[in-house]
Amino acid sequence: MPTAFNLVPCLLLAALMAFSATPEVESTSDCPDSCGGIAIQYPFGIGTGCFRKGFEIICDRGLGMPVLAGTTRPVPVNLLSIRTAEARVMLPVAWECFNSSDKVYDWSDGNVQFNHEEVYRISNTHNQLVVIGCNTLGYTRSQRSEGNDYPYAYYTGCMSFCNNSRSAVNGACAGVGCCHVDIPPGLTDNRMSFEEYTHKARLDFSPCDYAFLVDRDNYTFHTADLKMDVNATMPVWLDWAIRDNLTCEEVKKKVQSYACVSSNSECHDSSNGPGYVCNCSMGYQGNPYIADGCTDINECENHQEYPCRGVCRNTLGSYECKCPGGSRSADPFNQPCNPNFPLAAKIAIGAVGGLFIIAVVVFASLLGKEKRKMKEFFRKNGGPIIEEVNKIKLFRKEELEPILKRSNCIGQGGFGEVYKGYLRDETQPVAVKKPKIDIKLAGQFANEVIIQSRVLHKNIVKLIGCCLEVDVPILVYEYVSNGSLDKILHDNNRVPLDLELRLQIAAQSAKGLAYMHSEITMPILHGDVKPANILLDVNFVPKISDFGTSRMITVDENYTSTIIGNWGYMDPEYVQTGLYTSKSDVYSFGVVLLELITRKKALDPDINSILGNSHDAYTKKKRVIELVDPEIAATGNIGIFHSLAEIIVQCLDLDVDLRPEMTDVAERLQYLVK
Ligand SMILES: *[C@@H]1O[C@H](CO)[C@@H](O)[C@H](O)[C@H]1NC(C)=O
Ligand SMILES: *[C@@H]1O[C@H](CO)[C@@H](O)[C@H](O)[C@H]1NC(C)=O
Ligand SMILES: *[C@@H]1O[C@H](CO)[C@@H](O)[C@H](O)[C@H]1NC(C)=O
Repeated sequence: MPTAFNLVPCLLLAALMAFSATPEVESTSDCPDSCGGIAIQYPFGIGTGCFRKGFEIICDRGLGMPVLAGTTRPVPVNLLSIRTAEARVMLPVAWECFNSSDKVYDWSDGNVQFNHEEVYRISNTHNQLVVIGCNTLGYTRSQRSEGNDYPYAYYTGCMSFCNNSRSAVNGACAGVGCCHVDIPPGLTDNRMSFEEYTHKARLDFSPCDYAFLVDRDNYTFHTADLKMDVNATMPVWLDWAIRDNLTCEEVKKKVQSYACVSSNSECHDSSNGPGYVCNCSMGYQGNPYIADGCTDINECENHQEYPCRGVCRNTLGSYECKCPGGSRSADPFNQPCNPNFPLAAKIAIGAVGGLFIIAVVVFASLLGKEKRKMKEFFRKNGGPIIEEVNKIKLFRKEELEPILKRSNCIGQGGFGEVYKGYLRDETQPVAVKKPKIDIKLAGQFANEVIIQSRVLHKNIVKLIGCCLEVDVPILVYEYVSNGSLDKILHDNNRVPLDLELRLQIAAQSAKGLAYMHSEITMPILHGDVKPANILLDVNFVPKISDFGTSRMITVDENYTSTIIGNWGYMDPEYVQTGLYTSKSDVYSFGVVLLELITRKKALDPDINSILGNSHDAYTKKKRVIELVDPEIAATGNIGIFHSLAEIIVQCLDLDVDLRPEMTDVAERLQYLVK
């Protein structure tokens, strides 16, 4: 071995001895932080007190670069990484050379004793073992074990051979002139051994064998390497760790020697050999082996490693990334922020929203207006008065609307329309009378409602209820199935009507009118008695309807000029004087009786001849009997027709005072029925 190399460890040893009394200082600002462009960080250090035991570095002025301390030959350092706990150094190759006697005349096992404190392990992941030669076997060994034929646990190596000078080829390290092999973890040195085989006939192109560890990415075989310089060095990765023979678990209990002194640092067990390494916690960077060595990473300054497509905000140990106001992204870290709503959409939404609000307001005001209108109608239609009359039902507008459709219409005329339908949950049909919208008539309908609400008689159409929430009240009556007497009498398909039935109809109609005239507390005049207003039910029982022109007679108010009667049935006295009395109804009923027994219309000239004042009572009676419908003329005895004629003529008397009362008429007709 060259004596020059022996000098270095001696000097180093002396240096170590000289300073051994100095207490170990973990790190000082006086320590050089680099050498030859290579950063030197604690636990590494140059100079006493600057390094942790086993991590001393020497700045070799001659080489102009850092070297590991305590080695038998300088071991240049290319890189010292705190973050990955690695060092990249140049280690010499092992070799042996043969002379012409086929004997090894010189050799080196490559060992430089770089690992006194055993803080290093040869990286098994980054390095490989390469053997070069044309008839050799090179190997390394590791992990001493006692009591065995072999003193080590592992022997790792490979064999290389070449037949002649042309056997080996560049780039191929596969057993011909060069071989390589993976190494086990835990290797602590680079000591190599060879098995010697004859080099006869090879000395000229392969006089020496070589074996070395090398960065597996950094060595490619060249045939020229068969004659490599024996002083060559190779790049090798070393894994270093705090080799206190303690795991992280254990070291935390021995706080005084714990190397991970920085806040925000973590301990990790070494992946190659015993001990542990320190790392800065997530979000921090720097040197965990010195106090406050781990500092927060400002992720916002490194978008490559810490992406953010929005607004980046650094926090201790982390960072936030949010989209600016008015924009959004499903993942602002990786996907760009887009405006929440484009301006056009905002305007559209604003407009739609505005319109919606306007619509709501308008609708509400319309609804309010409609409500006020309904209330007003209710008041105008006499609602407050009618409400007190609790015999009739007040319907909501919606309740009647389903009935008021064209297909339900069963009658139409000057008064308005009549619909047949069913109320909800009712089995009996009703007739709904919807008057024509005529403000002047509205008051009369209220009148009719009030009148009818007081009338409960089997010969008067029953008013079930009304709806006052409309312009003109809608009236709901019991449905009378056989239609009006007018229709029965004068329809084209003349239904046979015998005398008895006609008398029944006459008598009962008279009863109804009489009831209205006299039997209720406040007498009611009909005002428009005619066959069209006498309805017949399924049994031909007459029911008087249409009290639209009726007036209640009170002591003070027995005079009116607004009754709308019907020409032909109208009391001539009333036409002359404008004074409508109960006798006016009697007159009209006389016309109805005449029509009933003659089956001729009131405007028929024959009927008219009786109504006028051109004849005396006797002639009129005779004329009535002559005009009796032939259908019934033969069925009854002449006395009945005489009596009927008598009643009729009396009812039609132009002298109001000579007309009988309605009750009288009713009684006499009832007598005739019997
Ligand atoms: C070769 O080396 C061996 C061992 O050193 C030595 O004994 C021998 O004399 C050498 N032969 C020649 C020719 O130098
Ligand atoms: C080996 O590493 C050194 C220094 O890192 C570099 O200069 C060289 O190119 C590498 N060689 C190969 C073959 O990768
Ligand atoms: C390391 O630990 C092993 C097993 O725990 C023990 O046998 C050995 O003596 C320890 N070595 C040192 C240097 O503490």
